Amino acid sequence: MVFHCHNLRDINMSSNPLLELSGINKIYRMGQIDLQVLFDVSLHIYDGDFVSITGPSGSGKTTLLNIIACLDRPSSGIYNFFGENVGLKSNDEMSTIRNLRIGFIFQSFNLIPRHTALENVIMPLHYSTKFKNSNFKNLGLECLEKVGLSERVNHYPNELSGGQQQRVAIARALVTNPEIILADEPTGNLDSKTSDDIMKLLKNLNMQGKTIITITHDNEVAEQANEIIRIKDGRVS
Ligand SMILES: Nc1ncnc2c1ncn2[C@@H]1O[C@H](COP(=O)(O)OP(=O)(O)OP(=O)(O)O)[C@@H](O)[C@H]1O
Ligand SMILES: [Mg+2]
Repeated sequence: MVFHCHNLRDINMSSNPLLELSGINKIYRMGQIDLQVLFDVSLHIYDGDFVSITGPSGSGKTTLLNIIACLDRPSSGIYNFFGENVGLKSNDEMSTIRNLRIGFIFQSFNLIPRHTALENVIMPLHYSTKFKNSNFKNLGLECLEKVGLSERVNHYPNELSGGQQQRVAIARALVTNPEIILADEPTGNLDSKTSDDIMKLLKNLNMQGKTIITITHDNEVAEQANEIIRIKDGRVS
């Protein structure tokens, strides 16, 4: 069965999916033993979707998201990213896709401690020649403004609250203006009020046209999304 995600705001059955996973399997080789963690996963994600992936610990959520993020490759199956087969791409081509077309948000923020908020946000711009003529500072300030942190641009991560650090990480995910935002438990380290704020921010970005896929353990968080993908023991139900 193929799981279709369609943003209810903008149903267009004739459009092609941005991301299309068909029969994805993932097997980790552990010494003599093969450990299969994804089984025949098929998904379609469309432009403007806001999808949450939910399921028990160890069910394969991060493994699936890392494949979607071009951080890892499936053992078998086909992954088409904007109509192109990722399986035929080199590792360098995969990292270009990752740098330019995907913004990634982590549970533990992953900010660089010795860099200010602004310096953290502009970091991805250094990794592509596409931005060589851009004003990094202005792009960074614009993104910090989008996440409501214009007053904190020169703070270091340890001078920010958890919610503010996650906002910086979201600004960093936005700075290259990617089409897709992927988040692995972005509210996992935050209290419930701050989680709500971060989910509202993601929802807002979705309303502005970003396609968002977020993993969560939390049913309330999952319900903010337009579509929920439930995964159990490596299978999408
Ligand atoms: N690099 C790896 N090598 C071997 N096994 C792995 C590797 N990464 C994950 N696994 C195994 O794959 C399974 C799925 O892991 P995954 O991290 O995708 O789960 P998850 O659903 O994200 O869990 P959680 O909610 O705890 O983050 C687990 O049983 C895990 O032990
Ligand atoms: Mg995980």
